[in-house]
Amino acid sequence: MEFGCFSADGREFVIADVRTPSPWINYLENGRYFATISGNGGGISYDRSPLHGRITRYRINDVPHDRPGKYIYVKDKDTGEVWSLTWQPVGREPAAAYRVAHGFGYTRAEAEVGGLASSVVFFVPVDDDREIWKAVLTNRSGRPRRLAIVGYVELALGHALVDLINQCDDQHFNRVRFERGLQALFATKTYWVTETRGTQHQENKEWDRWAYFTVNRPVAAYETVRERFIGPFRNESNPIALERGLGSGDMDCGNAVAALEVDLEIGPGESAGIIFSLGVISKPEFERTKGEVVGKFRDAASVDAALERVRGAWDRFFSHTRAATPDAEADVFLNFWTPYQAKVAFDVGRVASFYYWGIGRGFGYRDTAQDTIAIAIADAARARARVGLLARQMRRDGKVYHHFYGDGQGEFTEHCDDPLWFILAATEYLKETGDLGLLDAAEPFLDGGEGTVLDHLMAVAGFAGANLGPHGMPKFGRGDWNDTLDYIGGKDGGESVWGAMFYVAMLDRLAELLDFVKAGRKGDAVRELRGRLAGAIEAHAWDGAWYIRAFGEAGRKIGSKANAAGRIFINTQSWAVIAGLPDRARLVRAMDSLAERLDTPYGPKICAPAFREIDPAIGLITRCVPGKKENGAVFCHPAAWAIQAECLLGRGERAYAYFKKLLPGRVDQETFSAEPYVYSQYITSDEHPTAGKASHSWQTGTAAWMYRVAYDHILGVRPSYAGLVIDPVVPRAWTRFSVERVFRGARYLVEVENPDRVEHGVASVEVDGERADGPIAPRPAGSVCRVGVRMGRAK
Ligand code: GLC
Repeated sequence: MEFGCFSADGREFVIADVRTPSPWINYLENGRYFATISGNGGGISYDRSPLHGRITRYRINDVPHDRPGKYIYVKDKDTGEVWSLTWQPVGREPAAAYRVAHGFGYTRAEAEVGGLASSVVFFVPVDDDREIWKAVLTNRSGRPRRLAIVGYVELALGHALVDLINQCDDQHFNRVRFERGLQALFATKTYWVTETRGTQHQENKEWDRWAYFTVNRPVAAYETVRERFIGPFRNESNPIALERGLGSGDMDCGNAVAALEVDLEIGPGESAGIIFSLGVISKPEFERTKGEVVGKFRDAASVDAALERVRGAWDRFFSHTRAATPDAEADVFLNFWTPYQAKVAFDVGRVASFYYWGIGRGFGYRDTAQDTIAIAIADAARARARVGLLARQMRRDGKVYHHFYGDGQGEFTEHCDDPLWFILAATEYLKETGDLGLLDAAEPFLDGGEGTVLDHLMAVAGFAGANLGPHGMPKFGRGDWNDTLDYIGGKDGGESVWGAMFYVAMLDRLAELLDFVKAGRKGDAVRELRGRLAGAIEAHAWDGAWYIRAFGEAGRKIGSKANAAGRIFINTQSWAVIAGLPDRARLVRAMDSLAERLDTPYGPKICAPAFREIDPAIGLITRCVPGKKENGAVFCHPAAWAIQAECLLGRGERAYAYFKKLLPGRVDQETFSAEPYVYSQYITSDEHPTAGKASHSWQTGTAAWMYRVAYDHILGVRPSYAGLVIDPVVPRAWTRFSVERVFRGARYLVEVENPDRVEHGVASVEVDGERADGPIAPRPAGSVCRVGVRMGRAK
């Protein structure tokens, strides 16, 4: 059963059957104002923060699911019939009358119901913090139509967690009022909590914003209270207000909503447009600016121009990388959907989705660092700002907040990997841009004082050196990249073998940087620590055919042939390669073991066999059902590292086979369940009855890594301090392909020929007609550079 597919140019995902197995959503956002919207209109809206700046409500995991949302109801005033311009919430049959296209930064819902055709575009302008719903209705019924059109949202107004847990009291602080002169509803809460947690502390302040909801035609009626709009024993499918009429009363008490009715008469063959806007105005500016704000985007021309700017912004973003390979399906992801997802995850901070409320945690430190590497290519300024933000979450001893809110609030945990991700983000930004001035930029430490970014990097190295256990590997603490290996070794014991590999890889990057900037003895110290860690891994972690995952209490091995469950883990095989451990025979053996023991039709699993007994001395992973999440699913993010590792071994066939299996929606869409146009966090493995089902779509580091691994290691065009490295690792069938890459302001048009059908190896490179060896030194910004690459054995 198929629900949708890409448009011919790959720029839209078109949902032809809106009864999707889960809500298939899109993000409308400009980095400040955020909205999610599913194919059925469900989704949230927030300003800046999903926790503190929540505008509308969304009930995760509720029944019916995917509610509430951004709804436009239509009522035929002659027949009394009611439907909505997205299939839900009214759910009028046949569902086949509805069709939705998700594009980059916009979603378009089309329908034809009872002779009335409609098209609504939802988007957030690049330069204005609001969401716009622009509808056009066309009367194809052959008779005049008298219609009531009602735009509707349910409001949260401020702190989303407090809204959830304190509704009985919170509803006494909501204020919603209609201003006839402005044709707008304004809503706020006279009470606001800025703490991140659910707390009993009653802060003495009000929400610092007014939300507004407005429409570009005269308002015939409005409503502000959910109890009055929906009515008892009803829901969004059949609100009583659509039968009895809207009450047009300002808020007294209850759940706040914003509903605006416009009456339209449309003659046969005629069309009418209607534009709703939802947004916020900060309180100090409210009285001065509200008229101007709600007065904008009231005509189709200004809305269409704003939508063009959204398209233009995404085109510019995508123009930094382009792939034309023999695999058209892969190209759609490489050119559009994977960088799109990576940018969305970077902006959203991974927390708000159909799966995440956006209330439980702030930006994850390691997640944010990884998201940054994807954005450095097309938006260096924002990547640099993010590196600064990451620096500011650090103490002088190199420890960082595990997650943070950017306003000084955050939480320290005992994860052994977190600080080292800073090295990844900083060095990747530096390789991309050559902007070495970053190293001298001053940033404060959380515990006082400030240091340069270089000082922060050295603090991380200090943390790494001080955090080693009896085998000379990182003390596991409460987890490493894998958050569910959280009790290895009991209270504070245990050592992470993956952590040791990760430290090696990151210290390598740091030493490479220190050499490049000629930082003298600093580099020697980092290299010495790196060498010790690598030696410890080789001395203690090889298990015969793969590397173990960890040491538990009393030297117990985890991820070893001695174990019944969790015998082999993906990360200690792929990162052995990524870390550049010296014994190639071991690396090849380890990656072969990974292929033999972890690969499935959906891609390689995170570990196998899955745990079936709870083991409190390992942790949460063993409490999870087998085959899902960290307990043996195909966890897509580390699968990207397996692809990178295969490339580093020069094995293009296998790297591409993994890459291909992991492309979203490879199994049938009903089984896959999540959106087939973006990566999910995991795909259920063959150890669970729902094998092939994906979950936790959108907000995963998979997007950033798949994007980088595909361009850097498969297509093999990657930045280094010295210039652009060309080193493709591809399947043999790829006899030619091309890559476009913007690097330090110049555009490189790379044409690769592979007449001998090799998996890797570059025989010759020509740059603008001249033979080149080694990395291509940066060309002047603005220039176009033609690179001809011939793969094959060096001549
Ligand atoms: C989730 C977390 C990520 C973690 C991974 C594995 O995706 O966001 O930080 O590394 O799970 O536990």
